[in-house]
Parts: sequence; structure tokens; C-alpha cells
Amino acid sequence: MDDEYDLGEVYRAFDRQREFHNSKKKYRLFGGAAGPGKTKALLWEAIRKALLNDGCDTLLLRRTFPELEASLVAQFRRDVPPSWFRSFNEAKHIVTWWNGSTTRFGYCRNENDVYQYQGAEFLFIGIDELTHFTLKQWQFLTSRNRCPIPGTFPCMAGATNPGNIGHAWVKALWVDKEPPTGFERPEQYDPGDYDFIRARIADNPIYANDLNYRKTLEALPEQLRKAFLDGDWDVLSGQYFDLFEIGRHTARPEEIGMREWWPRWVSIDWGFQHPSAVYWHCGMPKGIANSYQRPASRQEVARGQDAGSKPGSLDSGLQTAQTSARDDRYSFGAGGEAAARIVTYREFVQNGLSPRMLGQAIAERCKGEKIQEIYLSPDAFAHRTSEASIAEQLGEVLGANGLPRPTRADDDRVGGWQLMYQLLEQDAWVITENCTKLIECLPQLVRDNRRVEDVRKMEGDDPADAARYGIVPGARYAGVGASAMGGPGAGQAPPLYSQVRFVPGMPLGEQIARQVTAEEPTSRAIQFQRLEAERRRGNSLGRRDCRDGGGIGEERIGIRAERPDRLRGERRGRPPACGGSTMGGEVSP
Ligand SMILES: Nc1ncnc2c1ncn2[C@@H]1O[C@H](COP(=O)(O)OP(=O)(O)O)[C@@H](O)[C@H]1O
Ligand SMILES: [Mg+2]
Repeated sequence: MDDEYDLGEVYRAFDRQREFHNSKKKYRLFGGAAGPGKTKALLWEAIRKALLNDGCDTLLLRRTFPELEASLVAQFRRDVPPSWFRSFNEAKHIVTWWNGSTTRFGYCRNENDVYQYQGAEFLFIGIDELTHFTLKQWQFLTSRNRCPIPGTFPCMAGATNPGNIGHAWVKALWVDKEPPTGFERPEQYDPGDYDFIRARIADNPIYANDLNYRKTLEALPEQLRKAFLDGDWDVLSGQYFDLFEIGRHTARPEEIGMREWWPRWVSIDWGFQHPSAVYWHCGMPKGIANSYQRPASRQEVARGQDAGSKPGSLDSGLQTAQTSARDDRYSFGAGGEAAARIVTYREFVQNGLSPRMLGQAIAERCKGEKIQEIYLSPDAFAHRTSEASIAEQLGEVLGANGLPRPTRADDDRVGGWQLMYQLLEQDAWVITENCTKLIECLPQLVRDNRRVEDVRKMEGDDPADAARYGIVPGARYAGVGASAMGGPGAGQAPPLYSQVRFVPGMPLGEQIARQVTAEEPTSRAIQFQRLEAERRRGNSLGRRDCRDGGGIGEERIGIRAERPDRLRGERRGRPPACGGSTMGGEVSP
């Protein structure tokens, strides 16, 4: 190659891309705005390294498979003529070049997926959207960046916009030039190894003159505009949900295996100019052993737990979350209980809808589902004019469709954010991947400088507010949260642990089997009496607010007054229950 960066029709580097390719530093970051050609430069850096060094392996990574397919692999398929390489293994995503070098495309959805590269060596590792990765993943990958061929220079590069879960550590290493919190052996950090090539949208001549694209970016919320248009790294510092992880806190909807009787509720942040954001949640009861097994968290990976299990497979779930049953039946086995969780399973975000239209849109999406409660942002209850409030207008449509009228959501922001943080920390809140706006929004939230326990209000935070309106009450009646897990309090009323409750819709036999846990006859009788008393109390109070001790909708469940000794028959030889309970309805003998 005469000019390495001018490959005719195939690739002609822009000036900033050339600067990136020319940098001789061990760790380069091509960082900044959206669209200057970061992904393309990363791809061509890997190709160039592979072509210039015979028999060397190179690796290109993205956090998830769909993103990998849509970016690096798509550009490879589109730009690189097949005559340039000997083969492309579609299943393994490995290109073999004519000189025997390879370029592998990979992804690391879960924290410990990086361990699939244990034992491999790469002359070059390029990571696209580096801030989607964690510091631990980066540091592990640096150990794979070596090459036995003399005279070669192993190096790595990242390409990224500011923001997201990795914002803080990426900014520390390349922008602030200091070892980030959690950096192993900080004394060995050498700022001279790091080169930050800051790119702006103007660096891509195609986009610089594309008024439409610019307009799209200009229309972004202020924080994102600064980050994506100017590549400003300061605006998104102080990230609130710094622990949020794709894979750990998200799941494919089919992994959850939702059951009809699980409690479901909806939360809404009303908006007209700003979008209205609506979330559907359900409670996954304690002890459910279905195909969803939580992947190991960053901390567990850091502690070296579970590193031996097959990356990316269901087996990479926590040992404690594993149960022998994988077929969506309940597990009562000792020590193998999966914890209760809230699952946020659907989103609807749209602006410009009248309350009635929004009500209709919600009702259509609730078809066939039993929704127990609908929480709505408090400002929607105000009577601004003599007309009905937004809550009333919405309530009319919801009511006509057999849904509950909206309940005023709790607007304790600080307590709500803290609770959400704790639930994520305890893996007690899972968001399904179809809730794309929420998954995008959470990592963008930053602390408010004037009120550090709060999240700074910004345009585009509607999904987070809406989710918060559902998580706060949901945590109380789904039996998850600080007190449930023995963690520090979140300033919330404790969930209802000492009380037995009936879970609406759960088959009667199941309720009894799950709540009457003792094997010993006297204890069983006592537990049964408590259930009976609870039922009577439920009936006499009617529908109660979940805050003062009742489970939503439990009054609708009847329980036959069976004698405790008959209950054994109901259990049909189930293994002895150990602390089995409903969601939050622990019964102590
Ligand atoms: N040197 C180049 N020559 C021609 N097109 C380019 C070049 N660099 C980037 N592009 C095109 O510009 C668009 C944006 O590039 P991309 O690498 O996806 O940007 P980023 O990752 O920074 O958002 C893509 O369509 C890409 O093919
Ligand atoms: Mg890109």
C-alpha cells in the first residue's frame, strides 16, 4: 500500500481519521460527536493491522450482537471487496485474510462474556462504543493484547460518544489522564500510553454539509446535543445509574416467561409537548425458576466467581439463582430460590396525544392483561381550567375499557431514584429489551449539582420519571427493595414482610402451597390461621392501599376454609418449602 489510508474507492480516510490511524500510542480513543467516522476508522485500523502483519489476529468488539451486526459487520460487508480476503466464517464472524491474519468480530453482552477470549492473543483490539463497556472488561482485554511475532506493536483503540455506563472511566483514562476509580494497579497508569483524538461532526464532510442530520442532532436534549454534536465530555459526568448494565439488568422478553397471574401495573408520565411515557410492570414472584437466570454481576466477576462457566450461556447465571427446574414451574428447594423481581416489560412513548387518545393507546396495549393499578404523574391531577383534569379525562377512557382509574404517583424524586438504584444493585429490577427508550435513558441521567441526591432534570428524562412512578409502589407490593434484601433503607415504607397476602390470579392450590410453608403440623396450623385472619381482614377492609399493608386486589381472591391437615394433600408431594412465600408475603412459623 503506497498510502495506507488511501485505498481508492474502498477507503479514503478523512483528516481526523488519518490522525487516529497515525497515532503511535498504545491505547487510542477516537471519541466525541456522532458521525465523524469513528466506527469506520476502527474497522480499517483492524484491517490495516491484519494486512501489514502476516499471521496476526485482530479483534473488533461491540457490546451486543444486534449492534455489532448493524455497525462493524454491516460496514465490513458493505465496504470490503470479497477479493480482499480468503474467507469469512459467517457463524464465527472471522475474516481470514490472504496473508493468514484474521479479524474477528465479537460482542460481550454480559460482564463475563469477555472471558471467551481467555487464552487468545490479539495484535489489535478495537472496541466500538467503548463507553458501553465496563472498566473491568477493558482491563481484562488489555491482557489479551499481545502478539508473539517479533517486531509487532500490540495496541488497542476505542471509538465512542460520551455518555453511558463507561463515561466516567473512559473520561478519566483519556480526557482527564488519571487512573479511574476501580483501576487495578493505579500506580502503573502511564498517561503517555493514552491518546485522545477528539472528533466532531464537522470532521465527516458527508455530514458536515448534511443539514438534515445536523437538525436532528440540534433537536436533541441539551446534554445529548453537547455530547453528540461537540463531543463534550464534561456534560455527562456524575452519572447517576453508574451500575446499570445491559445483560445484567435487561433481558429478552422471552427469557422472562411471564405468567398470567403475576401482578401487573402501569405507570405514566403525562406529557403533550414532551412525550407521554408509559411503562408496564409485573412482579416475578420469589422462587420462580424459569428460563431467566440473572447473569453474573460486575462485582461477582471481579471476585472471580463463576468465571469458569460458559460465557453467554444460561449457565453463566449465578449459582444461587439456579434451580433444578427450568421449565417455568415453581421451585421450593432449599438454597436455590430465585429472588422476587420487578420486570418492566413494555413501553409506549409518544408526544402530541390528548389524554383520551393516550388512554385509548394504553387500553389497546392492555388487551387480555389484568392490570391492577395505573399510576400517573401527580401534575396530571391538577385542575388547570374548569374542565376535567388530565387524570379524569384519562380515567374515563381507561374505566370504559375495564381498567383502573389512575392513582396519583408518589413524587418523592430522591427516594424513588434511590430505590431504583438499590433494586438494580440487588438485581431485583429487570427491563426487557423492547423498552429501548428507558434502556437508553437510564445511563444518561446525571446527578444534580445543587442537590446531589437527585437526578438533574433534563429533556428526554420522561422514560425514567415514568418508570420511577411504577417502581416505587411496585417495589412495595412485589416484595422487593431495601428492607426485603436486608440492605440499607431507601426512605421507603418497608415492604410487607410479616404479612401473608394473596396474589391475585394465582391458582388457589398454589397460594396455599406457597404460603403455608411449615412441615410440622402445629406450625402449619398457625400459618393457616394467619392466612385465614388475613383473608377476613382483607374482606372487611375491602380494597386497600398497598402502603398500609394490603396486597393490591387480594380481596378478590377467596380462600376456602380448609383444615390444615387437608393442605398436605394439596401439595401433591412437593419438596418441603423453605421460606417459600408469595411476593413479599413471608410467613414465619
Ligand atoms: N473516510 C470515509 N469515506 C467515506 N465515507 C465515510 C468515511 N468515514 C465514514 N464514512 C461514512 O460516514 C458514515 C458515518 O460513519 P461512522 O463510522 O458510522 O460514524 P460514527 O461511528 O462516528 O458515528 C457512514 O456511512 C460511513 O460509511
Ligand atoms: Mg459508530
